[in-house]
Order: sequence, then C-alpha cells, then structure tokens
Amino acid sequence: MWSFIIESIAFFVQEIMNPSLKIVLVLVVVFLLLQIPIFNPEKNYVDADTEVDITEKYEVPMNIQMDLYVACYDCHSNYTEDYPWYYNIQPLSWWMNSHIKKAKQALNFTEFATYPPDIAVKKFEALHMVMKEQTMPLKSYLWLHEEAKLTDKEYQQLADWAKEMQQKVEQEMDSTQN
Ligand code: HEC
Repeated sequence: MWSFIIESIAFFVQEIMNPSLKIVLVLVVVFLLLQIPIFNPEKNYVDADTEVDITEKYEVPMNIQMDLYVACYDCHSNYTEDYPWYYNIQPLSWWMNSHIKKAKQALNFTEFATYPPDIAVKKFEALHMVMKEQTMPLKSYLWLHEEAKLTDKEYQQLADWAKEMQQKVEQEMDSTQN
C-alpha cells in the first residue's frame, strides 16, 4: 500500500509535473526545512554588565537617553527588546540578525564606556553626522517601528548633543596630554 503511494507520487513528480512546478516544489521544501529551529539565530541578549553603558561615563540628558533607547537600542546594544514574530522565519531572521551584528560592531551603547577616548571621539563624530543627515534608524526598521521615528527637533537635539560630547572628550584628551 505505502509503496504504491510513494511510487505514485514519484511518478507524478517525474512524469506529469511540469518543470517550473518542480522548481516551486523544491523551493517550498527548502523553505520548510529552513524553519527548523536550529536555523534560527540566537537572540541578542548578552548578560547585562550595566557598568559600561554610555550613561556610566558620559552625560546623557534624559530626553536623549529616551530617544536612543526607543530608536537605537534594538540594534546598537546588547539586548534587543522588541523581536517581532517574524524573527522566527528564516531567512528574515538572518537578515535582521546581520543588521544587529553590524550595528553593534559599529556602535554599541551598552559598551560605550569601554571605548578609549580617541575611539569615543570618532563614535560621537559619526553619531553627529548620522543624526544630522537623519540616516538612522535604518529605513526598513522604521517601516515596522512607528515609535522609533524621530522628529526633526529630536534629530537636531541628538546631533547637537553628540557634537558637544565629541568636543568635551577632545578637550579632556588635550588637557591630559599637556
Ligand atoms: C535596525 C537596526 C538599526 C537601528 C534601529 C539603528 N541602527 Fe545605526 N546602524 C545599523 C547598522 C546595520 C549599521 C552599520 C552600517 C554599516 O556598516 O554600513 C549602523 C551604523 C550606525 C552608525 C555608524 C555609522 C558610521 O559611519 O560608522 C551610527 C553612528 C549609528 N548607526 C547610529 C544610530 C542611531 C543614533 C540610531 C537611533 C537613532 C540607530 N543607529 C538605529 C543598524 C541600526
């Protein structure tokens, strides 16, 4: 009985199905196999060492903190709070995971206090640029995170703050060299 069913399916796939349908079938099977949980990347939740958060070393006014937290921390920190349901679907999860990885490499607010002064200056400089040009958060993130949209005024405040911090660290570096 079983062998009859399997042979019939094999016959159907080989002889009757047209080639494009076969391709679709293969793609569907591959897609389904990718949904096995082992292919789901580990979530971004590094055990909290709050001593090295940016707020430990630098002055971050409360409104700036809130903006960073709401609009940036999902990617630029050691914990992504807001994982959408589709993070369980491959390859979407890979795509999101690679954003988080790259974002953390470029700038990690929860490890910002570990940056030596010359690096901190560069990070504040990049922050200033990005806020001035309003190129962050990523567009694809904003499609689905209405709450992360910043107003022009918020962008301006963030840009000004980053500039101020950059100058402050530069001054401190100068005074310790002399
Ligand atoms: C959806 C994820 C995501 C969010 C949210 C996000 N970023 Fe990014 N950010 C990235 C990625 C990815 C990169 C690395 C881009 C690259 O390497 O080309 C990056 C890079 C940066 C850089 C470094 C740019 C450089 O030239 O070195 C800065 C500064 C930055 N982001 C600031 C922010 C700020 C500020 C926010 C919040 C207002 C924010 N990002 C929100 C994903 C994100």
